[in-house]
Amino acid sequence: MVERVKTGIPGLDEILYGGIPKRNVVLLSGGPGTGKSIFSYQYLWNGLTMGEPGVFVALEEHPVQVRINMAQFGWDVRPYEKEGKFAIVDAFTGGIGEAAKREKYVVKDPDDVGLLIDVLKQAIRDVNAERVVVDSVSTLYLSKPVLARRTVMLLKRVLSGLGTTSILVSQVSVTERGFGGPGVEHAADGIIRLDLDEIDGELIRSLIVWKMRGTKHSMKRHLFEITDHGIVVYPNKIVRLGRSFRLETI
Ligand SMILES: Nc1ncnc2c1ncn2[C@@H]1O[C@H](COP(=O)(O)OP(=O)(O)OP(=O)(O)O)[C@@H](O)[C@H]1O
Ligand SMILES: [Mg+2]
Repeated sequence: MVERVKTGIPGLDEILYGGIPKRNVVLLSGGPGTGKSIFSYQYLWNGLTMGEPGVFVALEEHPVQVRINMAQFGWDVRPYEKEGKFAIVDAFTGGIGEAAKREKYVVKDPDDVGLLIDVLKQAIRDVNAERVVVDSVSTLYLSKPVLARRTVMLLKRVLSGLGTTSILVSQVSVTERGFGGPGVEHAADGIIRLDLDEIDGELIRSLIVWKMRGTKHSMKRHLFEITDHGIVVYPNKIVRLGRSFRLETI
């Protein structure tokens, strides 16, 4: 029996046959505004409510903004931070600004991956994290793509080694069909891709599990929505892209 971590995202565990296999490092890739950050927040929040501590590595947004974004969905992490069950690693501010001085886990030089990993390890140990999200890994190698695979392998060794089941957010451009580059895609244990497509003057959200080591999974493209309570995936609504778009209920 494979040990699994339930994402708790409605509909998603069903298409993953129960959840993400424990210790997997999953690449969550998609273009701008496809819902990667919301997905990540929801994954961590659901962990907290199930008694699984978590760590969020903020590379794209100020930690203060991350708390605000989460609270908008009713996910207030501050009590969990106070209890020592949740931590945000600030790899955004570089320690600059008044608000940053109140952060417990600050990466002084966000370009220094070694330093980031040291702070991350500390946070994982302190809260006994079972779930980790890095939003986004792309930020770590945007200016130096040759380091992409090495960076992801380094993170994978640490995250998997410490027993966490983690999500690495990967940014791709609107038109790109890939997931974040060859080195990265092969290094990850799983790939979930979020898409946003304009069909007949309307944007349609869909999700596909491209790979997930250690389990079978749906091979279909599923419709999903973002609501005031977060992401809802529809296991029985299949999106067919291509020359003629079709939405099919199975
Ligand atoms: N309460 C809400 N109800 C419905 N949709 C929402 C709500 N809040 C945000 N959204 C949608 O979610 C999108 C933002 O999602 P998110 O921040 O997770 O994207 P992202 O993939 O992380 O993008 P980026 O790569 O730019 O960081 C918004 O553009 C909007 O369409
Ligand atoms: Mg985002």
